[in-house]
Amino acid sequence: MNLIGQPLDRIDGLLKVTGEARYAAEFPEARLAHAVLVTSTIARGSIASIDASRAEALPGVLLVMTYQNAPRLPNGGKPPLAPPAGRRLSLLQDNQIHYNNEPVAVVVADTLEHATDAARQLRIAYQPGAAVVDFDLAKPNAHAPDKPQGRQTDTRRGNYADGLQRGTVRVDATYTTPIEHHNPMEPHATMARWDGPQLTLYDSTQGVSSAALAVSKTFGIGPNDVRVISPFVGGGFGCKGSSWSHVTLCAMAAKQTGRPVRLVLERPQMFGPVGARPHTEQHFVLAAKPDGTLTAMRHDSLSNTSTIEDWTETCCMVTRMSYAVPNQVTTHRIVPLNLGTPTFMRAPGETTGSFALESAMDELAVALKMDPIALRLKNYADIEPQENRPWSSKALRECYETGAQKFGWSRRSATPRMLRDGNTLIGLGMATATYPANRSEAAAIARILPDGTAMVASGTQDIGTGTYTVMTQVAADALGFAPENIHFALGDSSLPKAPVSGGSQSAASVSPAVREAATQARNQLIALALADPASPVHGIAIGDIDVVDGWVTSRSQPDKRDPAAAIIARAGGKPIEATSTVKPGDEKQKYAFHSFGAVFVEVHVDADLGTIRVPRVVGVYDVGRVLNQKTANSQLMGGIVWGVGAALQEESTLDTRYGRFTNGNLAEYHVPVNADIQTLDISFVGPPDPYINSLGVRGIGEIGITGVSAAIANAVYNATGVRVRDLPVTLDKVLGTVHM
Ligand code: MOS
Repeated sequence: MNLIGQPLDRIDGLLKVTGEARYAAEFPEARLAHAVLVTSTIARGSIASIDASRAEALPGVLLVMTYQNAPRLPNGGKPPLAPPAGRRLSLLQDNQIHYNNEPVAVVVADTLEHATDAARQLRIAYQPGAAVVDFDLAKPNAHAPDKPQGRQTDTRRGNYADGLQRGTVRVDATYTTPIEHHNPMEPHATMARWDGPQLTLYDSTQGVSSAALAVSKTFGIGPNDVRVISPFVGGGFGCKGSSWSHVTLCAMAAKQTGRPVRLVLERPQMFGPVGARPHTEQHFVLAAKPDGTLTAMRHDSLSNTSTIEDWTETCCMVTRMSYAVPNQVTTHRIVPLNLGTPTFMRAPGETTGSFALESAMDELAVALKMDPIALRLKNYADIEPQENRPWSSKALRECYETGAQKFGWSRRSATPRMLRDGNTLIGLGMATATYPANRSEAAAIARILPDGTAMVASGTQDIGTGTYTVMTQVAADALGFAPENIHFALGDSSLPKAPVSGGSQSAASVSPAVREAATQARNQLIALALADPASPVHGIAIGDIDVVDGWVTSRSQPDKRDPAAAIIARAGGKPIEATSTVKPGDEKQKYAFHSFGAVFVEVHVDADLGTIRVPRVVGVYDVGRVLNQKTANSQLMGGIVWGVGAALQEESTLDTRYGRFTNGNLAEYHVPVNADIQTLDISFVGPPDPYINSLGVRGIGEIGITGVSAAIANAVYNATGVRVRDLPVTLDKVLGTVHM
């Protein structure tokens, strides 16, 4: 594997920086009409009346679609599939309102300006009901979800009460995290075109196949009657892992108007109908012997869902697998609110759960007067402790060791407020990072063309992560071709099927399929050459054959070689083609698959103002084989940056009177900018995963964000002596205490 791991530049980089990469809302279309979504202004109730007369009379207006005239859908538009593909949508089938900012109408016109103008002239009167939007008030309504994300709702191992008795050093604390919104740079966008019964959607999505399936089922048409195309996605992060209402509404509007229709969500419309990370409240109890041995752990997680769908932030998953604690209880409960349904957001459950768990472990280390790394090593899980399975591989010890050394952990004082530079309090903190290594069935096709180049494709997605680049590397490596002679295609549901790009699974699922298809094509090319008396390699033993830069070549006599184009030409000029579908075997029954990391953070807290800066983050990760050092580094970097945002800035603030977010825009929803991020030192340790797939590749999309907010909160404690258990850690939460 010569090319695997190489830091190749992104092959789509030039297209992106020159604006040539075409996103969903940028495909040209004859007779294109423009749609504007209209959303509710109350959080609960019903539509009493709609006056569309002014809007309909405006120039260029083609359609005002409301529940009164929208096409009726089979089964009332109810979800035909389970999440993530199928969600409970708002498809204008009735007049009920379940949350503020819920889709209530679509206005279509010949131009975006006409549609926008008409949408503003639509008069909707509501009959409001009593909305429930205050988490604290609604807590008594909490209920147990049924198998959240297919996992156990609650777990119990050992004897918790007994373990609690035996642990004389305890932590009992509650951690809270706010609602957050994904805010990819590219908002959700769809363009829909009907050609008779055939629907084509240009959609910004993390799953072309799952989107096609969800939409076809919603309309009650054949799965092959919907094609979804999505060659470039300007960030997904989980919110584009489901097909939300606007996708189907756009197709409905196209059907009604008989024209192709484009619908792009406005930025404020990203705060409601397309998911969010829910609010979490996590209660932890930890008990340990004086030497640091954990005897009991309890984690009760409460998060909000909507009133129309149960969706659970699975905070306890990380608690179940992280430490070798024999006695443990974990529970998930959800609180329905009149808000849009929450959804997957980068490391859903692990981001929020690791904040609580790794903060609690830090608090326990303080209570024990023990080094936080020593405490983690004392309770190191040599096997997966919930299912008692061996890990496929785990190099977390190496992550701690390498990280501590690179970071200079030995500089840290266990006592807070000991490191100081003038008026700046310096704190050092760390946390464990982890994310499961997922994998699903995927298919790919490899075609060696008469010109000696290759077309390789899979119906996967590149959501900004580098899929085009790493799959080109995998294909080139398996074929024995130069990367520049590979054309890799993705983002089209008519291609061989691949899973949704969620759960950090694309690289681990698709790369073995690409490798297999490319290997088969390579073998066919070799067989053709060896069988051809006119070939310079005719008669050479197969064991002595390699493909080098597109030439079938004798290893022992490298001057004996034959280029792919000549081999194909002599064989009649037909492309060589191989397809492959690969799926997981029974390895998940034998091993537990996880990636791991250790995050070290330095914070600077202004002793007067309480402002917090993060000059330095060191992250060391065990993710199996890295396909491309450069894109992998970028993935981890992006995750850590988001972790800094989650720790210090991000928070969707709710106006509990109206159930609307007061900062639902990019001016007031704060995320890190360049000035907030300084040194990020990322490295990788550990071997290729021996069991996950033929390349040893585990996914890296989500692990980067995990652990970061805990490491920062732990560092803030080390700097100030103030323990902040409520994200984000803003200056008001440390101000007034820094001079204690
Ligand atoms: Mo990721 S939140 O599973 O797209």
